[in-house]
Amino acid sequence: MFKKIPKLVISFVVVGSLVVGCSTQQTQPAPTTPATPAATAGTPALADVIKNALPGTGVAMRGVSDSFDNMYYAAKGGNWALAAYMSDVMQDYMSPIQITRTQVYPQWAAFVKANLGDDSALKKARDAKDMVAFEKAYSDTINNCNGCHTALGFKFIKKIKASGPEANLDYSLQSNASDNK
Ligand code: HEC
Repeated sequence: MFKKIPKLVISFVVVGSLVVGCSTQQTQPAPTTPATPAATAGTPALADVIKNALPGTGVAMRGVSDSFDNMYYAAKGGNWALAAYMSDVMQDYMSPIQITRTQVYPQWAAFVKANLGDDSALKKARDAKDMVAFEKAYSDTINNCNGCHTALGFKFIKKIKASGPEANLDYSLQSNASDNK
């Protein structure tokens, strides 16, 4: 409780000064002697600064792909909660894309709903600890990953099943998917 208050105060001060900074700029009368073009036209809007600082699709996809590999090996080892967790992390990696690539994100969201969502074969296989069903759903999902790559002009990016997981975690720790809260 005590720890949170100063952070909040700091955020308000920071946000407050940014807002004040913005409005000061907007209400200031135009200088009589125009500043150099670089100083006026070259000042990017805050929204553009944030957008450019966030990762684009390629960076996010690296995380998606690694977590997807980890998900497979977690399921295979019987760590079903870790498999469920990795599916969540895949989606976290793509969150910034809502801002940086607004045209790609809806397609990603549709992919998630169909392949990783509550009614997906992967989720059902995880919940039932059914590796046979999981294997099939996993390879169907790989095809759908690649379907999006082809559709968006990246036919040369073809995901294949990894020979091992990425992260050094205990993949054989036994758990239920429901342990991933
Ligand atoms: C919504 C469409 C879409 C879906 C669905 C999608 N991808 Fe991608 N992926 C892309 C695009 C677009 C790129 C190229 C991005 C760029 O660099 O601009 C990409 C690039 C990649 C890359 C190369 C990035 C790198 O840095 O190595 C990998 C690996 C990848 N995707 C894996 C996957 C996997 C695995 C899945 C499925 C679990 C998947 N993708 C699903 C659109 C998609």
